[in-house]
Amino acid sequence: MKSFPYQISNLEEYHQAYQKSIKQPAQFWEEIAQNFIWKKKWDSVSEWNFKDPKIEWFKGAQLNITENCLDRHLNKFGDQAAIIWEPNNPNEQNRVLTYNDLYKQVCQFSHVLKNNGVKKGDTVCIYMGMIPELAIAVLSCARIGAIHSVVFGGFSAQSISDRLHDAKSEFVITCDGAFRGQKNIPLKSVIDEALISCPFVKRVIVYSRTQIPLNMIEGRDTWWEEEIKKIETKNCNIFEAEVMEAEDPLFILYTSGSTGKPKGVVHSTAGYMIYTNYTFINTFQYQTNDIFFCTADIGWITGHSYLLYGPLSAGATTVLFEGIPTWPNASRLWDIIDKFKINTLYTAPTAIRSLMSYGLEPLKGKDLSSLKVLGTVGEPINEEAWHWYNTNIGKNKCPIVDTWWQTETGGILISNLAGITPAIPSFATLPMPGIVPCLIDENGKEIEENNVSGNLCIKQAWPSIIRTTFGDHERCRKTYFSTYENKYYTGDGAFRDANGNYRITGRVDDVLNVSGHRIGTAEIENAINQHKGVIESAVVGYPHDIKGQGIYAYIIYNKNIDDVIALNNNITQTVSNIIGPFAKLDKIQFVNGLPKTRSGKIMRRILRKIAENDLNNLGDTTTLLDPNVVNEIKNGRI
Ligand code: PRX
Repeated sequence: MKSFPYQISNLEEYHQAYQKSIKQPAQFWEEIAQNFIWKKKWDSVSEWNFKDPKIEWFKGAQLNITENCLDRHLNKFGDQAAIIWEPNNPNEQNRVLTYNDLYKQVCQFSHVLKNNGVKKGDTVCIYMGMIPELAIAVLSCARIGAIHSVVFGGFSAQSISDRLHDAKSEFVITCDGAFRGQKNIPLKSVIDEALISCPFVKRVIVYSRTQIPLNMIEGRDTWWEEEIKKIETKNCNIFEAEVMEAEDPLFILYTSGSTGKPKGVVHSTAGYMIYTNYTFINTFQYQTNDIFFCTADIGWITGHSYLLYGPLSAGATTVLFEGIPTWPNASRLWDIIDKFKINTLYTAPTAIRSLMSYGLEPLKGKDLSSLKVLGTVGEPINEEAWHWYNTNIGKNKCPIVDTWWQTETGGILISNLAGITPAIPSFATLPMPGIVPCLIDENGKEIEENNVSGNLCIKQAWPSIIRTTFGDHERCRKTYFSTYENKYYTGDGAFRDANGNYRITGRVDDVLNVSGHRIGTAEIENAINQHKGVIESAVVGYPHDIKGQGIYAYIIYNKNIDDVIALNNNITQTVSNIIGPFAKLDKIQFVNGLPKTRSGKIMRRILRKIAENDLNNLGDTTTLLDPNVVNEIKNGRI
């Protein structure tokens, strides 16, 4: 029995759904949209052009996404767990929030936001650890119509300040601190530092998680718990959801591109809701009562779409884990699966490779028999890791879905459907219904044949495609819609096999994917160059066994400095301060010069080859201003 009328349950149905989604997209999506609750139905299903770009789905409709994620489940699933929270420390008690609990707490916190002056259309920055209150904060913003901008807890004060300025956020929700493995991250102090340069922030609401001593600034800072106490009257357990237009922005999420400054990807309400729900149900073949565990942080798009909105809109139980897979030991994820009898595990190849490096010992005595489906996301998965995952975690009985998508796409675009369409190790395989991928050659022409590689683009709009980059629509047009006419440009390269299956080969622009996190080389270079001992730098990626890609920095430094070891450490610290501790330089090579063309452009191709230790294929170096620097760099390779 299908858990949802629009759940694809065999290969033939996939092909039928796909054909219909392409030939009659309006009818296709309209039928799915009928399964949601609306305050007013749409006037048209979709209107879009990629030229401006202007993209609208379900125009004229009114809704609130939280009514679809919470209210509508209360009758049937009120007592079912919505969120199972597992703390960082296995000795601490876990928490279970039923749909009734979550509804109540979201309504309460919506009152708090309102009392603190947050209005529809305001942007709210959320900087918290992985605790249920993070989910509550996000959903409460959506309930009152404020635009949430979640910033991952690993970002630095400088990064937060940049995002607050860009999004013009006057409100911040944070915690005193966050537990992550052995670390106790002082989130509120980081916020305090960030706010020195953001005097426009009016209110900071602080949830107390780690009980570290804090500086609370009177008139600006307030405790979450005290705010809840203030509104504890009879009616505060209900908060009427704000009426939102289908195209009202739901959230901003900053992501790195090939230029220095991260951009605020804007997603809108209705299309995002429909698409994340549809892809959640179909990719993972979610069945009622399944327990779903997405290990991503809510600070990234995967956490938004498949830890929160997708599962909650489907009435699923979603697991929120505060810690990391390797603390206190490498059995942590397997213990969680065993403890809650988890049915689906969705994680990143980097986590799989890291756990694989501990061997099979951590798996001993762990009962993983509840697992039905496994998923991967964020970077290409190598075949060795795929087989390890399949054999040792899935015990050869759980389909693995390799889901390819991006912050900008809102939801999964290319993936096999668990147990429905075939999995092929290292291939994301076939497009989801509604998605028309294509490959473009070096001359900008679409390649029609199979068994070819090219730049991956998408030819038609789907409901959760990026709408704009916050405050700068032209940047959105330039980045995604101007490279090739009438196409959304992904920045990824792909290979298409004889049967139309796609294998994503990685970024073709200056964006690195380190442990599944996107970082622009320009962003890292800007950070390095802020160190006063640095004259110039160039950053490239190189293959890294665990992280997928490592960061290799070539740096020209000021010769007045004699303690190079200290310089090395200081530069690493500078990058950590400016971007965040997760942007760690894996290798630093000090050089006297960089390979530049006569027009002053750095030939990154050469630097990449040297970092990859592919020294015999550097290509033509005769056009360089000073070909000798290449030999020097080759000889000093780390
Ligand atoms: O290069 C692709 C890679 O991650 C990029 C998107 O990163 P981000 O916006 O941070 O979103 C990550 C989570 C959706 C893509 O351009 N990527 C994502 N999934 C895969 C992938 N590469 C290969 N296979 C995947 N399954």
